[in-house]
Amino acid sequence: DGAFRLARAESLIAAVSDHPTPGVVFRDLTPLFADAEAFSVVVDAIAEPFAGRFDVVAGLEARGFLLAGAVAARTGTGVLPIRKAGKLPRETVAESYDLEYGRATIEAHRDDLPPGVRVLLLDDVLATGGTLAAALRIGERLEWDVVGCGVVLELDALAGRDALDSRVVSVFHV
Ligand code: PRP
Ligand code: ADE
Repeated sequence: DGAFRLARAESLIAAVSDHPTPGVVFRDLTPLFADAEAFSVVVDAIAEPFAGRFDVVAGLEARGFLLAGAVAARTGTGVLPIRKAGKLPRETVAESYDLEYGRATIEAHRDDLPPGVRVLLLDDVLATGGTLAAALRIGERLEWDVVGCGVVLELDALAGRDALDSRVVSVFHV
């Protein structure tokens, strides 16, 4: 059943100590994404709370791209990449943020989406919330209607949810 399928998917998440820097327990979702059954149940679970309420799925580079494309294809919506700085070729809106292990800038094209578009933001992991908070600021500047944020795994100890002024749904938490 559904609970069993989700528990099996969760069991495929690997914990790697001291990656990429000492003291960080890195949550690696590649085994889950590589398993057809687990990926399928997670793609459904992340979209379900927002069903029928979004026009586009925006994925956060890099691991959010995998989810965003899959959810968009399954729900018949568009997909948008929110990229690390310097990758998008046309005019962008950029926001910088702190990570658990460093600092980064992400950006979106100014004109890929019209104002008022209903956007679901997706990423694999919610840690400090810096990445999704920056994506929300980009969405605000571009006048998107962000319906919420979805992540596969939320790291409760880092309280990332508290940094986000938006509805956040996580499939798993640790
Ligand atoms: C990881 C992860 C999230 C973000 C979460 O990405 O995929 O995007 O960190 O952390 P936060 O909640 O503290 O912002 P990373 O920046 O390592 O980039 P990558 O996906 O390109 O490896
Ligand atoms: N992004 C930020 N912190 C992370 C962690 N501990 N594991 C995986 N991705 C992350």
